[in-house]
Amino acid sequence: MYDLAIIGGGPGGYVAAERAGAAGLSTIIFEKKSLGGVCLNEGCIPTKTLLYSAKVYNYALTGEHYGVHVSNPTIDYGEVVKRKEKVVKKLVGGVKAAMKANKVEVVAAEAMIEGRDAEGIKIKAGENEYVARNLLICTGSEAAVPPFPGLKEAGDVICTNREILDLKEQPKELVVIGGGVIGMEFAAFYNTIGTKVTVVEMLPKILGPLDDEISSMLQKIYAKRGVNFCLSCKVTGIEGNTVVYEDPEGKTQKVCGDKILVSVGRRANLNGFGAENLGLEYLLNKNGRPVGIKVDEHMRTNIPGVYAAGDVTGFSMLAHTASREGEVAVNNILGKKDRMRYDAIPGVVYTNPEVAGVGLTEEQAKASGKEYVIVKLPMAYSGRFVAENEGGEGICKIIAGKKYHEVLGVHMLGNPSSEILYGCCMAIETEMTLEQMREVVFPHPTVSEILKETAFSFK
Ligand code: NAI
Repeated sequence: MYDLAIIGGGPGGYVAAERAGAAGLSTIIFEKKSLGGVCLNEGCIPTKTLLYSAKVYNYALTGEHYGVHVSNPTIDYGEVVKRKEKVVKKLVGGVKAAMKANKVEVVAAEAMIEGRDAEGIKIKAGENEYVARNLLICTGSEAAVPPFPGLKEAGDVICTNREILDLKEQPKELVVIGGGVIGMEFAAFYNTIGTKVTVVEMLPKILGPLDDEISSMLQKIYAKRGVNFCLSCKVTGIEGNTVVYEDPEGKTQKVCGDKILVSVGRRANLNGFGAENLGLEYLLNKNGRPVGIKVDEHMRTNIPGVYAAGDVTGFSMLAHTASREGEVAVNNILGKKDRMRYDAIPGVVYTNPEVAGVGLTEEQAKASGKEYVIVKLPMAYSGRFVAENEGGEGICKIIAGKKYHEVLGVHMLGNPSSEILYGCCMAIETEMTLEQMREVVFPHPTVSEILKETAFSFK
């Protein structure tokens, strides 16, 4: 009998296992593919590794702006992919070591929930049956691939985030369907290393939920670098290596590439592990279709002792949300008071420049009916930014409550905003005001000082 069984070894499952093991719970985790889940094996980590190679290549190409001359830099696609594999292997090894260090039993097999009775929750994996007092479901999500006419026939021209990571050769032309986070990160990578990239996006803007002003600035930057954006364009089918879409005037247009990336969102993995044997309640979309396992703020499902965390809950599909949700579930199993809060979930798009934001966007603040103020400054107000970003554009925007000036949202474009953003998460979590932010001593010279400068620009 285990205190906790976890299905799925991604950032929801493995972080929960680590915390549970460290707290003395007898813990078992089932993973059918590779520990680390999508994040480590085919998501966050491999893409950041590729993007870093692109960044280094770009430094070599643009060195002259900094007085550094590199003659004829080239990028070796095969070596870039090999390094990505090395990084993934090392980090998966790290997760394995963390499981061992926290006395977590790892079962490398597919788990099937058989049901719950007076004895506990029963799970089968291979020939063995396991019983646990508590269960945490962290089965994640997979790329949603709409049934575009002609998609199946197109064969391996079509990629999702998974296949595109393992291409042996750099595509000469890439068509990206969906200008969301995955689409833009791959568009950025391939554009930098010399692939001709077209992004076909249904909405009038890329990176839909992002602050409008910032997504528009980023789009202009990449358009200048040669990415072809087809906005308000709906894909209607695939013909071999050609994407057929309807432009804003309703005319049929075509664009071809040697690879087509489908990045139009992700779908929670709700089937194939016996969820139906528990009688779980689901989160439904407006058409009444289940899109996630329904949980409360303690990550409890409707079945006593059964919790869910991460993408399988169907919203905030981000690795860091998953890890925190896993921790909340474990703390509740341990009898500690802890609840999940979604007001300060950071979001980063690892383009170059990076986009980083947390809390309300200007558009969300407007729609919420809240009284708010906005202060913003170009990143060039930071000396360090100017020193390190020759000709670089950027912006820092803070949204605060009108009456108390508490920080409600911070949105930035510019490097390295991903590394600064945690401070903004803390500001929102602690209801810090603009005046309190001004009193904090920031390290100088850092790009983070832009936050203090922006807070001071509020009159
Ligand atoms: P997404 O939801 O970010 O973007 C999908 C885009 O596809 C939307 O802009 C949508 O309007 C567009 N679209 C949908 N149907 C279309 C069609 N038929 N034709 C043209 N465009 C269409 O989804 P994405 O990029 O696949 O990412 C999935 C998840 O992975 C997200 O939840 C994201 O948060 C997560 N992720 C996070 C990353 C990060 O934090 N840096 C990196 C990569 C993924």
